[in-house]
Amino acid sequence: MTRRYAIVGLGSRAGMYVEALAGAHRGDGELVAFCDPNPVRMRYHQERSGLAGIGCYGPDQLLELLRVRRPDSVIVTSPDATHDRYICAALDRGVDAITEKPMTTDATRLRRITESAARSAAGLTVTFNYRYSPRNSLVRQLLRDGAIGRVTSVHFEWLLDTAHGADYFRRWHRDKATSGGLLVHKSTHHFDLVNWWLADTPVTVYATGGLRFYGAENAAARGLPARPALGRDLPVDDPFRLDLAADPRLRALYLDAEAEDGYHRDADVFAPGISIEDSLSLAVTYAGGATMAYTLTAFAPWEGYRVAFNGTAGRLELDVVERFQVRPAGVVDPTGTVAENESRERLTLQQHWQPTREIPIPHGAGAHGGGDAMLLRDVFQGAGDDPLGRAAGLRDGANSVLVGIAGNVSLAERRAVTISEL
Ligand SMILES: NC(=O)c1ccc[n+]([C@@H]2O[C@H](COP(=O)([O-])OP(=O)(O)OC[C@H]3O[C@@H](n4cnc5c(N)ncnc54)[C@H](O)[C@@H]3O)[C@@H](O)[C@H]2O)c1
Repeated sequence: MTRRYAIVGLGSRAGMYVEALAGAHRGDGELVAFCDPNPVRMRYHQERSGLAGIGCYGPDQLLELLRVRRPDSVIVTSPDATHDRYICAALDRGVDAITEKPMTTDATRLRRITESAARSAAGLTVTFNYRYSPRNSLVRQLLRDGAIGRVTSVHFEWLLDTAHGADYFRRWHRDKATSGGLLVHKSTHHFDLVNWWLADTPVTVYATGGLRFYGAENAAARGLPARPALGRDLPVDDPFRLDLAADPRLRALYLDAEAEDGYHRDADVFAPGISIEDSLSLAVTYAGGATMAYTLTAFAPWEGYRVAFNGTAGRLELDVVERFQVRPAGVVDPTGTVAENESRERLTLQQHWQPTREIPIPHGAGAHGGGDAMLLRDVFQGAGDDPLGRAAGLRDGANSVLVGIAGNVSLAERRAVTISEL
C-alpha cells in the first residue's frame, strides 16, 4: 500500500516535495492534503501537480485534515517558528513527520518536539539536503576514513551574496521570532554538516555579530536616500530591486496571493523592522575536543564557502564558489569576461610531509550535483544502509539547531553558552 502524505506550508520549498510526489516518486506515495492559510498558494501547487483530489485545509483545520485524510506522514515546509506545532500534532497522533530545517527556532519549542517524539511510536525526519551534495558527502567519507587523523579544529566561512543573502531580509526571515535569525534559519545547515562531518556533538558556543549592512539604520548611516517600502518599486538598476511580476513563479506564488494575507515577498532590505543579524562569528567546542571558528556574512560580493579541517595527520580544505558575482539588471561587465553562473569547487588534501592532492568530486544528474534526488529517494523510499548515514532525525535536528539557539542566547547575554543549559 502506498503511503499517504500531507504537506503543511505551500510556499516555495514545498514545490520540491509536490513535484517529487507528482513525478519521480509518484509510485512511492500519494499526496492527500495541503494545509496553508493562503488558498491561492495551495491552488497553485494543486494545479502544477496535476493531482486531483488533494484536500486543502487552513492551519486551524489541521486535526480535521489528520482525521479525514489519514496521512501516514506530514511534510512540514511552513515558516520555521511554526514547525513544532505541526511536528507535535503529527507525532502525538502516531503520524510520521518530515520537517525542513531548521527543526525549530528556540529551546521551548525544541523541548515540545522532544517530548512528543519520546511519547510517540511515529518517526521524525529532518531533511538536511546539504549532506547529500557530493562534495559534502566526500568530506564526510574522507574524515570518517581518517584521511587527516583526529580532527582538532575547523575553520568555516560561509558567504551569502547580495542576491541570495538579501532575500533573508525581505520577508518573514527578517523577524527573529519567526525564523530564529540566520544562526538558526541558515547556519543550522552548516552546524549540522560539522556535527556530521566530525561525528561529534557541540558543547559550548560563543557568538558575536549584528546587523551591519541591511536595515534602515545602516542605510541612513551610509547616506542612502529614502526608498520605497517594496522591492518592486525600486529603479530597474537598483541591486535590490525584485520584480515579482516578471517571474512567473514568484508572481503566482506571492504577488497573486498577496490579497489573501498581506504577505509581501519583496520588502525592501533597507526598510525598518529587521530583528536578525547579517554578520556573525562563533567559537564552538565539541565533545571530542575539536573547536570551530565560524563566520557568516550575508552581504558578500560572491557566494560560496570555505571550510578547512586541521587534523593530527594533515589538513583538508574545501573551497566552493556558487556565484562569482551579483549582476543587477542593466549593470554591464566592462571586461565582458565574467561567467555569471559559473561555479567552482575544489577539495584538497595534504597529509603531513606529503604534496597537496586535489581530490576529484563526483557528480550526479540534477540539482545540487544529484544531491536533491538522493535526499528525495531517502525520504520516499527509505534510507537503507547508507554508509555515510545521511538521513537525519530528531537527534541531528536538535544538535544542529542547538548551536544556533545557544548562539542567540550568547548574542543576547554576551557570554559563552553551554548547550546542556538549554
Ligand atoms: N533545505 C533548504 O535548502 C530549504 C530551502 C528553502 C526553504 N527551506 C525551509 O522551508 C520552509 C519554508 O520556506 P519557504 O522558502 O518555502 O517559505 P515561503 O514563505 O515560500 O512558504 C511558507 C508557506 O507557509 C505558509 N504559512 C505561513 N504561516 C503558516 C502557518 N501558521 N501554518 C502553515 N503554513 C503557514 C505560507 O502561506 C507559505 O505558503 C522553511 O522552514 C525554510 O527554512 C529549506
